[in-house]
Amino acid sequence: MKTVEVNGIDLAYIDEGTGLPVVLVHGFPLDHAMWDAQVEALKGEHRVIVPDLRGFGRSGVTEGTVTMEQFADDVAGLLDALGIQKRVLVAGLSMGGYVVFQFFRRHRGRVRGLVLCDTRAGADTPEAAAARRETAGQVLREGPGSLVENMPARLFAGATLRDRPELDESLRRVIAGTDPRGIAAASRGMAERPDDTPLLPEIDCPTLVVVGGEDAISPPEEMGRIAAAIPGARLVEVPDAGHMSPMENPAAVNAALREFLGSL
Ligand code: MLT
Repeated sequence: MKTVEVNGIDLAYIDEGTGLPVVLVHGFPLDHAMWDAQVEALKGEHRVIVPDLRGFGRSGVTEGTVTMEQFADDVAGLLDALGIQKRVLVAGLSMGGYVVFQFFRRHRGRVRGLVLCDTRAGADTPEAAAARRETAGQVLREGPGSLVENMPARLFAGATLRDRPELDESLRRVIAGTDPRGIAAASRGMAERPDDTPLLPEIDCPTLVVVGGEDAISPPEEMGRIAAAIPGARLVEVPDAGHMSPMENPAAVNAALREFLGSL
């Protein structure tokens, strides 16, 4: 991985291949590695850029709250630092999708297309936002242990947990190695995120919506409503996958991404 200073922090990123830039934004509380299979599949024909968001992976950490807008501006700052002027495809999973919505709002001129993967458009309910703030406090007090215990099982389909325990273990390692201040700051940022539902009909670029058929966090029905609200969006339901569809069924996700990229 390389590192560059962006908006006052060191941002770690992967930058491989040449062609149309494809930016892949990871979910919470993860890092670039969740997109490894997509980097391998796409780098032959595209320039694939995968940051560790501020506070995650090998990037610098900010205390307090990091908003989805800040993450989106960091992605734009990374493109500036890499001298990328042309428009990009930007894809995000879950929290990465919240970042994609803000990237579209704030940097519309840089967008060639969007991929919304296992994500949500609505804001948190007051109860969900309070739970996120509670999580932030707990992780700061006790470290990421409680997330390591509870999160991976929710992220994967049952069959993935049974047949491919190494995926579960790899996420546990990533979460355990994440700076508690980064986890807390993103949790608070997600609690504050806006309702992007009114934005959906205004999305006027090619958009692909991807959801694991067994995603329990952003279920297919909810993702279907997102796709239906975005003019011309395509919806792909990925079999044998939960919330982490790019890791759980990379062949299907890569095929959907390739077909979408080919249509641009
Ligand atoms: C994620 O995978 O990024 C999280 O599930 C997002 C969230 O907690 O809303």
